Amino acid sequence: MIKLGVNIDHVATIRQARRTFEPDPVTAAPLAILGGADIITAHLREDRRHIQDRDVKLLRETVFTKFNLEMSVTREIVDIARETKPEQVTLVPEKRQEVTTEGGLDVVSQKGVVADVVKRFRDDGILVSIFIDPEEDQITAAGDAGVQYIELHTGNYALARDDISLGKMIEKLQRGMEVARKMGLRVNAGHGLTYQNVGLLVESLDIEELHIGHSIVSRAVFVGIQRAVSEMKELIFRHYLARKS
Ligand code: PXP
Repeated sequence: MIKLGVNIDHVATIRQARRTFEPDPVTAAPLAILGGADIITAHLREDRRHIQDRDVKLLRETVFTKFNLEMSVTREIVDIARETKPEQVTLVPEKRQEVTTEGGLDVVSQKGVVADVVKRFRDDGILVSIFIDPEEDQITAAGDAGVQYIELHTGNYALARDDISLGKMIEKLQRGMEVARKMGLRVNAGHGLTYQNVGLLVESLDIEELHIGHSIVSRAVFVGIQRAVSEMKELIFRHYLARKS
């Protein structure tokens, strides 16, 4: 069965809008787990725009499923992550001006830096994933850097509006998955996934973990996070069964 990683950054985004104590992403985590989340993901950005250092510490102490820390490959954040010891880190690119992570990490142009960071985490016993575009050269470079997982960037799939573009995006992701599998990599996916577009993806690709944030937290504003997560989990399960049958 596909695992669901719930990204709780946007709970912190609402809190930081007032720089107050609520809503607390640390409270959101167990509720998301009660709703069926297999993984809790938080992104400690260099600019600390949503998740704060204190959140990461408390999440580490309280999440007993799998804690996945999203992060850039900068020294400060790498040091914090190694001290925190999440079960998994996902390496992502970061730009100050972006509203959210805009594209996959360019592993090709910084292979040495990435390989060095990956080695340090692997020596610590931490699983490493890299968020990348479904491009053959990036996937090969990620494999060469020594990661166990890649997370395929589904942002362009999420933006596709007609059947032809959707089909092309699915094919691209499927090709990416083949390249990754040949290298022995485990394949996750995420970004821009919603209750509307997750089904086709699940029916078309054999993904290990789906990482979803904005859509679940948006629904949670109206129905609560536990229910929002369980609705997503059920949807994924239905489409997973449809693919298997
Ligand atoms: N995966 C990665 C690597 C991300 O950076 C994000 C956004 O923080 C997500 C998944 C979740 O994306 P969304 O919030 O669009 O569901």
